[in-house]
Amino acid sequence: MILALETSCDDTCAAVVTADGQIRANVISSQGVHSRYGGVVPEIASRHHLELIGGVVDAALDGAGVTLAGIDLMAVTRGPGLVAALLVGVATAKALAAVHGTPLAGVDHLHGHVAASFLSPEPFEPPFLSLIASGGHTLLAHVRDPGPSFEVLGQTLDDAAGEAFDKGARLLGLGYPGGPALEQLARHGDPAGFEFPTARRLQGLDFSFAGLKTALLYKVRDLGEAEAARRRADLAASYQRAIVESLVIRVKRGLAQTGLERLAIGGGVAANGPLRERLPPKQLCTDNAAMIASAARYVPQLPFPDYLGLDVYASGEPAVLAA
Ligand code: KG4
Ligand code: ZN
Repeated sequence: MILALETSCDDTCAAVVTADGQIRANVISSQGVHSRYGGVVPEIASRHHLELIGGVVDAALDGAGVTLAGIDLMAVTRGPGLVAALLVGVATAKALAAVHGTPLAGVDHLHGHVAASFLSPEPFEPPFLSLIASGGHTLLAHVRDPGPSFEVLGQTLDDAAGEAFDKGARLLGLGYPGGPALEQLARHGDPAGFEFPTARRLQGLDFSFAGLKTALLYKVRDLGEAEAARRRADLAASYQRAIVESLVIRVKRGLAQTGLERLAIGGGVAANGPLRERLPPKQLCTDNAAMIASAARYVPQLPFPDYLGLDVYASGEPAVLAA
């Protein structure tokens, strides 16, 4: 039995997963407090993690019908993410591990998104191409084995795909997180109403969304307040289509380049309906701790007291894959 914690951003998550990848409990407590600020406030996120983590762990253990004594491995996200938020998860995991001398595995968040595919009831095994598109990351990886050293083939040069959704939503007067809100508004709009850039001319497998966001800003400005408000749904639908196309273009290039025939998608943006229509479906896309437990099965397990020195790493810092 693996008990995993995930606190890299604004979701406080705990999950209990068996060694063969069956989810016994998967608790996600979303902090509804950030929408009024239009984005996640790190200091507020970490305070909320501190308040929520105890209850979330209890709920996961209860849901799985186990006690802490029945846990064989503690797992926790080390990064990348918000440092103060990650520290709450890591400190909690160390303390819980110390109670019964349980070993601890530090997990990379992106490895977690990849490893979500390895979970039952439909485990999807390497090799495959993996698209991870979240609020903080957008990358395409060649996954050869279940371990953390997948090959990154391309990544975003500026904004992440989820960030593009969030910033676009903000320009259209929608709340945070913007992805689901923008998707909903776009349902009543014409995706061909406006032409937005997909960075198609950018060669290779890297992504770029900054130009798209700027194009929306100028379009809203050019239309003027009244007309932009009247055509809000068309703007949303066209903007969403550009993000989806931009992702699909790179996925197709990646499949062609690697010769791989199978694709897994992860990260919050993978929950997007129109994207899923263009690509095969997959569950467990948004942040959760079951994916961290899954990844923990393929990284070193540290005994007490070796894990006490385990540190976190921020977004943009190089991942520390070994202990
Ligand atoms: O993976 P995730 O839950 O957290 C991070 O690691 O970032 O991804 C959150 C991101 C947010 O930017 C959110 O707007 C986006 O995923 N998102 C969506 C949808 N649901 C979440 N974007 C587009 N359509 C959705 N349905
Ligand atoms: Zn994520």
